Amino acid sequence: MKTILPLLLVATACLGDLATDPILYPYGPSEGDRITPRKDDGATSAIPISTPFVFFGKKHNSLYVNNNGVISFGVAVSKYTPDAFPLTDGSPFVAPYWGDVNNQIAGKVYYRESKDPNLLDRISKDMKEYYPNFNYRATWAFVATWDKVAYFGSRSKKTNTFQAVLTSNGKLAFIILNYGPITWTTGKASGGDPLTGLGGIPAQAGFNSGDKTHYFNIPGSRTPDIVNIKKTSNVNTPGRWVFEVDRFRPAGGCVYEANFVRYNETFWKDPTCEMKCKCNMDGDVECEEEWCSSNLLCQSSTWHYTCRIGIGQCF
Ligand SMILES: *[C@@H]1O[C@H](CO)[C@@H](O)[C@H](O)[C@H]1NC(C)=O
Repeated sequence: MKTILPLLLVATACLGDLATDPILYPYGPSEGDRITPRKDDGATSAIPISTPFVFFGKKHNSLYVNNNGVISFGVAVSKYTPDAFPLTDGSPFVAPYWGDVNNQIAGKVYYRESKDPNLLDRISKDMKEYYPNFNYRATWAFVATWDKVAYFGSRSKKTNTFQAVLTSNGKLAFIILNYGPITWTTGKASGGDPLTGLGGIPAQAGFNSGDKTHYFNIPGSRTPDIVNIKKTSNVNTPGRWVFEVDRFRPAGGCVYEANFVRYNETFWKDPTCEMKCKCNMDGDVECEEEWCSSNLLCQSSTWHYTCRIGIGQCF
């Protein structure tokens, strides 16, 4: 017994370190992850990426991983109290959990670019479930994981674990936000209680495209409810939120010049009804030359044109 017991204890401790929430994709030194500087409000320098990431129509060739729970494009982010999206300064942001992290007190922020077939298979399989019409095969991913990170001014042992995954096949782009245990919402400098990490202006989750119209605040953002984010989802998987971000494509249809078009709906885009358009099941509007049939008239509708039986027309 005397020799076995310490061995068992060691084994248990190791397992405890490795056991991660199954919602999180693998991360850590064993995956080849790097870590961000251990610095309050710190960030990486610009990280070049080998596949450009298309974020709402804009291609990005590099990104920053910011300690305060944000991946940003163009500039690093040191702001610790979150602002509601859309941001007035137009910065493109992916924010799994924007709040006042302090990784000098506890935790690490890991990141890696990956083309590991095991990871890409797993992402592709998940995306097939969420977007069955897309037949998406990931060819690239970027994984950033905030592992057991503390909050600024902490006088507790509370930590949060969360992850942001960017993935692309060269054309489509998605973000996947995954939540492990979330126990604090607010740093001391944002009005939070050092003993609980709650109160003040709580964390914000979602994304901001930078164009002021395409953004999303995960419900509960900047309210005390954000501490329950692990129980929420838009893909029927508690603790996971998934968004297509290459361009704005709402569930159930397409967007044509800022107008919503349902799947399979057709319309003419020109006042002489020569180009007929359709929202296909991929969420794309496709147009081809097709005129009104001879017994119909081209008429203007709300924002488009349709071929209708003319008023007073006889057959
Ligand atoms: C649209 O049309 C396709 C092909 O005809 C069909 O498979 C699909 O179910 C339709 N979708 C909707 C939402 O009506």
